Amino acid sequence: MVTAALPYANGPIHIGHLSGVYLSADIFVRFLRMLGKDVVFVCGSDEHGAAITIKAKKEGLEPQQIIDKYHAQFEDTFKKIGISFDIFHRTSSALHHETAQDFFLKLYKNGEFVERETEQYFDEEAQQFLADRYITGTCPKCGFENAYGDQCEKCGSTLNPTDLINPRSTLSGATPVLKATSHWYLPLDKYQSWLDEWITTGKLNGVELHDPADWKAHVIGQCKSWLDGGLEPRAMTRDLDWGVDVPMEIPGAAGKKLYVWLDAPIGYISATKQWAKDNNKDWEKYWKNEESALIHFLGKDNIVFHCLIFPGILHAHGEYILPLNVPANQFMNLEGNKISTSRNWAVWVHEYLKEMPGREDELRYYLTKNMPEQKDSEFTWKGFQEVVNTELVNNLANFFNRVVVLTNKYYKGVVPDFDLEEGFYSGSDADEYTYMDSEIVALYDMVSDLHNHIMNFDFRAGLKTIMEISSLGNQLLQFNEPWKYDKVEPERVAAVMNFAIQITAVLAIAVRPFLPFTSKKMHEVLGMDFTKENGVLLDMMNSLAEGEPIIPQGHQINEPIHLFSRITDDLIEFQMAKLENSKVLETVETEETAHKPLKPEISYEEFQKMDIRTGTIISAEKMEKADKLLMLSVDLGFEVRTIVSGIAMHFKPEEIIGKQVTVLANLAPRKLRGVESKGMILMAEDATGKLMFINPDEDFPTGMTIQ
Ligand code: MF3
Ligand code: ZN
Repeated sequence: MVTAALPYANGPIHIGHLSGVYLSADIFVRFLRMLGKDVVFVCGSDEHGAAITIKAKKEGLEPQQIIDKYHAQFEDTFKKIGISFDIFHRTSSALHHETAQDFFLKLYKNGEFVERETEQYFDEEAQQFLADRYITGTCPKCGFENAYGDQCEKCGSTLNPTDLINPRSTLSGATPVLKATSHWYLPLDKYQSWLDEWITTGKLNGVELHDPADWKAHVIGQCKSWLDGGLEPRAMTRDLDWGVDVPMEIPGAAGKKLYVWLDAPIGYISATKQWAKDNNKDWEKYWKNEESALIHFLGKDNIVFHCLIFPGILHAHGEYILPLNVPANQFMNLEGNKISTSRNWAVWVHEYLKEMPGREDELRYYLTKNMPEQKDSEFTWKGFQEVVNTELVNNLANFFNRVVVLTNKYYKGVVPDFDLEEGFYSGSDADEYTYMDSEIVALYDMVSDLHNHIMNFDFRAGLKTIMEISSLGNQLLQFNEPWKYDKVEPERVAAVMNFAIQITAVLAIAVRPFLPFTSKKMHEVLGMDFTKENGVLLDMMNSLAEGEPIIPQGHQINEPIHLFSRITDDLIEFQMAKLENSKVLETVETEETAHKPLKPEISYEEFQKMDIRTGTIISAEKMEKADKLLMLSVDLGFEVRTIVSGIAMHFKPEEIIGKQVTVLANLAPRKLRGVESKGMILMAEDATGKLMFINPDEDFPTGMTIQ
């Protein structure tokens, strides 16, 4: 039973989400399927909580519109980048609401909850209790005036809403008042001792459930630090109007919703139920049976919820198994900075898919190679280019292509027979002479290494092993030089080529969890069946262990095709410029902010440095392979400039020719998609991202200065 953290349906998926959660889960699950395991892989949209209502308010939309938009986008993005969920469900579904309510009711009936009355901030104008994020005020620690009820983004302190000085409601601006409200609390303090035992020894009531040595050190470390701090009861309900209702059989339920962190992980269970319904399976077999193994994939910010709170809930319910492992990842940074939605410092996966069509596996490869498994890692576009060009193009694609080309050339694509007595060079030295059976055993060892790495959630090492297999193939060709000896020593060349083909077949299968699109192409070229996934790796390992080839003699392969092409400087420059241009200046606000924050103060002198002028667009055209960019010629009166502008999603070229615009005329020139852009068209943007040109209320001559 494999789960991947449900993404909040309030913004698109970026590379940090992929490398942190979804890619590792996908590689693991695909691998299990190829080992013939019975595995279910579930995920879905997390559609409740303040994260959603705040986003809806910011965009002037209903929560339902927001979740529908992002749920559809998630499904599309995950599918296109090859994340092979068995189901991608959603927490707004009726089945989920029912499942979460049943769960809550069961805990209630078991007498697990403690009901408590506390005072919480209430907005009298908006007539509602305020979620922590709906309250801002002055931080008691550092004096920052826009701290949130749960955290100060400036000094990083964790806060309670009542800690804030001069609290204000972000809904109405009013000063909130404290009002009594009662909620149901999960007594984590009572669970502390068994959670501690379970986390640190892997045992529960003396029964060994897992070996803590198999868990990542940073995961255990985070749990221990919470445990050392002492667990406290945590409210499992909220006064909100968006979410799963507290079951109405419970007295006092009216107006209360389940806490999103109770509701969301139950989403894993409701997703499994839906999948079971659709596929005629028994969901309980995966959740309520000791024979089943439950594995949660997630980012480090979710560790405590999955290692302490959700297990607490599952155990309190009484019928569920606990996770066997929670192989959380750390974070991936981008070009030296933290990925940030609010500062637009991210590579959005849906944009990557459009801008780099057909290069899904290149991204998967680079993200896996730099997966933040034990510590934070780094994505750079230059690194991406370098890794793709050297490892995928020069190593993997090069080897595969050479083998396929030579097999077609020498044997018309038919896998050659060879004499068992015939060997080949395994090193540059004539003494290093070897035979097929011992080399197949060496291959088997490498595939076992791969297997062990994946089972240890060490995907980076697994990927490295695969590239070593490919390097072995390249060396085999280099040491034996079939292109020199095909006429003089045809027997040795046949043995070499046969073995090289076996390596390509091993690679075609082994890359599948990592690079599924490429694996499919390799299968097609080699004339192997890609439709079968279940157990293929196990079968392959069995054959190799027996010293048997994967592709038999006499098998017909097909013509070569390109697996990967080089990433050019242009593509990288475009991406880097795009990132730089779209960056929102450093702020202490977060994505939940209702209004765009004011940029830091500048001096009059700084303002005076800008040379802003009026101009007229005299031509506009689309740019190749750049959905967002238009190339404009703009008359500034004293000269006509070429300006590349990121407005193609908003305006058609023909509708803006002749338009009067304002231009920042002394901006340093920049190259975008190989075109030098001189200046920037100033635009106004509304909260939904709609762009408008800025021009005075009368027609104006070209070339006026603005100050
Ligand atoms: N939506 C949460 C986040 O993005 C994760 C929820 S994981 C689940 O941080 F366990 F609640 F499903
Ligand atoms: Zn502060």
